[in-house]
Amino acid sequence: MLAPGAILRTEGGVGRYDRLGKLIGSFSFFVLFVLCATQLFSIATTVVKVIFTTDLQTFLLHFPLSKSTYPTSLTRDILPKPIHSHNDYWRRVPAYTAIGYGCISIEADVWEYSGELFVGHDIASLTRNRTFKSLYVEPLRKMLDSQNPDTEFTHPRKGEGEEPDEPVGGRNGIWDVDPGQTTHLFVDFKTPGHNTLPVVVAHLEALRTPVNYLTHFNGTHVVHGQITVHLTGDAPFDSIIANSSYRDYFYDAPLRDLSSGRYTPENTIISSGQFGRDVGSVIWGRGMTEKQRLIVRAQIEEAHKRGIKVRYWDTPGWPISVRNRVWGVLVQEGVDLLNADDLKSASYLDW
Ligand SMILES: *[C@@H]1O[C@H](CO)[C@@H](O)[C@H](O)[C@H]1NC(C)=O
Ligand SMILES: *[C@@H]1O[C@H](CO)[C@@H](O)[C@H](O)[C@H]1NC(C)=O
Ligand SMILES: *[C@@H]1O[C@H](CO)[C@@H](O)[C@H](O)[C@H]1NC(C)=O
Repeated sequence: MLAPGAILRTEGGVGRYDRLGKLIGSFSFFVLFVLCATQLFSIATTVVKVIFTTDLQTFLLHFPLSKSTYPTSLTRDILPKPIHSHNDYWRRVPAYTAIGYGCISIEADVWEYSGELFVGHDIASLTRNRTFKSLYVEPLRKMLDSQNPDTEFTHPRKGEGEEPDEPVGGRNGIWDVDPGQTTHLFVDFKTPGHNTLPVVVAHLEALRTPVNYLTHFNGTHVVHGQITVHLTGDAPFDSIIANSSYRDYFYDAPLRDLSSGRYTPENTIISSGQFGRDVGSVIWGRGMTEKQRLIVRAQIEEAHKRGIKVRYWDTPGWPISVRNRVWGVLVQEGVDLLNADDLKSASYLDW
């Protein structure tokens, strides 16, 4: 049996714990209140800052994207550079990567199989999903369409009956910085030329209609377009020039054969030299010799005199110092396109 005092003591203890509990409760509530108030204050300050901002960093951070884009902003700020994206199928995103670095020239290696053109380095690398159409023709056409929007400004008479065929201000190329700059598309034939040519010509239709973006020869003049197609590799020269009244593809003539007189600005816009064969090999640790520089100078002068541009392929890729010195000489001597596998290096080089 418990003594009455013991019960009282116990009751007294319960009362003490109760007060302590209330104290802790109030204290927690107070802490919680302070935390919430601080948070609310900070949110309110941000809201006020955003609405009534005078702070440029805050203003920039909250500027709506919708106000900073414009119809032709796809390639904004990309400076077009005279670089040729060699073996472009190596890029993670063919065509787009090269355009992103500002390369004005792209090369597609095509293999023809029953009317379809597959893109790749060799037969083992081909897949149904990587075609000339999906990797080059369609992306280029999409980029051009986005650079040539149909707006109330480019087609102002719309709705009042007559509509201008050509947009006001002219047709744009891919380059927002320089809309007059054409983009070169080299199509390297990896399968026999006479079978491959008609398939390539048919594939170009998407760049021809409904809008003709292609540089063409109209029987008397070369009319400059937004895309200029050059046929190379096993491309058959005689068939390329067979139509003397209209052609929208050009031959990539061998630089060292220009003196034959077969190649004129009506059929050849850019000619190519194979560096190792036409100029000679470069010794490790040395750059090009003076003699090699003079060969390059003479070849470029000869081509330019004929109204034809120049690109060299098979330039040394390594050691990097030799590659860069060769690039430097070619640029100094007036080469028109720099052949590059490493687009980043070529586009960042400080000449
Ligand atoms: C090819 O593309 C189709 C459809 O986009 C896809 O389902 C398929 O997995 C792709 N095949 C290969 C080999 O990449
Ligand atoms: C060819 O183009 C030139 C220059 O644009 C033009 O003057 C000429 O009329 C065109 N010829 C034909 C047949 O379209
Ligand atoms: C030349 O090409 C044009 C345009 O494709 C075509 O209309 C014309 O019939 C062709 N001429 C010849 C002789 O093949």
